[in-house]
Amino acid sequence: MTKFARNQWYVAAYGREVGRELLGRTVLNEPIAFYRTETDDTGAGGQVVALADRCVHRRFPLSASRLDGDRVVCGYHGFTYDTTGTCVYVPGQKRIPRTARVSSYPVVEQDSFIWVWIGDPALADATTIPRAPHLADSGKWTTVGGMEPIDGDYGLLVDNLMDLSHETYLHGGYIGTPEVAETPMTTEVDEGAGVVRVSRHMNDADCPPFYARSTGIEGRITRWQDIEYHAPCLYLLHSRIAPKGVLPNPDGSDPNAFHVEITYAITPSTDSHVYDFWAVSRDFGLGDEEMSAFLHDFNREVVMQDVNALNLLQKTLDTEPAGYQELSINIDTGGLAARRILARLAAEGGQPAAAPAAPPVPAAR
Ligand code: FES
Ligand SMILES: [Fe+2]
Repeated sequence: MTKFARNQWYVAAYGREVGRELLGRTVLNEPIAFYRTETDDTGAGGQVVALADRCVHRRFPLSASRLDGDRVVCGYHGFTYDTTGTCVYVPGQKRIPRTARVSSYPVVEQDSFIWVWIGDPALADATTIPRAPHLADSGKWTTVGGMEPIDGDYGLLVDNLMDLSHETYLHGGYIGTPEVAETPMTTEVDEGAGVVRVSRHMNDADCPPFYARSTGIEGRITRWQDIEYHAPCLYLLHSRIAPKGVLPNPDGSDPNAFHVEITYAITPSTDSHVYDFWAVSRDFGLGDEEMSAFLHDFNREVVMQDVNALNLLQKTLDTEPAGYQELSINIDTGGLAARRILARLAAEGGQPAAAPAAPPVPAAR
């Protein structure tokens, strides 16, 4: 099992998923209930709150409860919590026990994602969250996306995304062509920053249906795939497609190419489940709803090919005897670097932090 790195930010949801209905998600084995505070006439409020999803009384899930203004009223006996997780009402008595509170988690809404911090709250620094600004820049990019849960160790998804040569075999007829598996790639590792970059530049490749139908390019293409993985959670694939031989200008401008930013957020849910958030952002056909529908549905099929493969792989791994020795080759260089970084991050912040002393952690920032 791939160990969890606790002192890190993780994507728990898209911002659009969190509103005035409670949403339950489990991140790093911790069940969390999310909601958004009320907005007033001036537009103030609307912050995302993340509370432990277990009532302190008899453990009823708060995500199955209801909101009363900005407070959560437990759906079982009515214990009521404010945005910091402090209980402000218990039924049948005036005195509220001092220990009547649930943990609250630091939360940041950025680049269309809700990021949550699971580890020691004192170490939660919002400036360290890796950026994916294209997701929230609708003037320059049109984005489609979704989230699919996978019944597997999150390390399997990291492996999958770090080596795109699998596109040729698992996604043939969708995004894979022979050139992806045949073209060598380069790998750069910034151990300190926890970033792995894997690049594969194909200068004379088949145009797979995903790009042929969205860009309208006919014939051979120049296809670049530049991966940037910010361990543990954020994965960016900068994809550049152009007619064969068309390169960026010397000044870096690139008006004759099509650019697609493919974003994944890899969020371990439990030891054997992972949330696979995916998004496809394009800088062409902006606002074209038919193209958006095509890219959404087509990419979801691709994602489901991975989901089904990883579900099967996990089942297979679960039945094998311990101590099996994997065989790695060149294509695994990026994945192995990612595993090394994840192991280090887990070792640095692997233990659950001690419960924070009062005052409680701010619920939203
Ligand atoms: S379980 Fe929540 S009030 Fe009893
Ligand atoms: Fe894939």
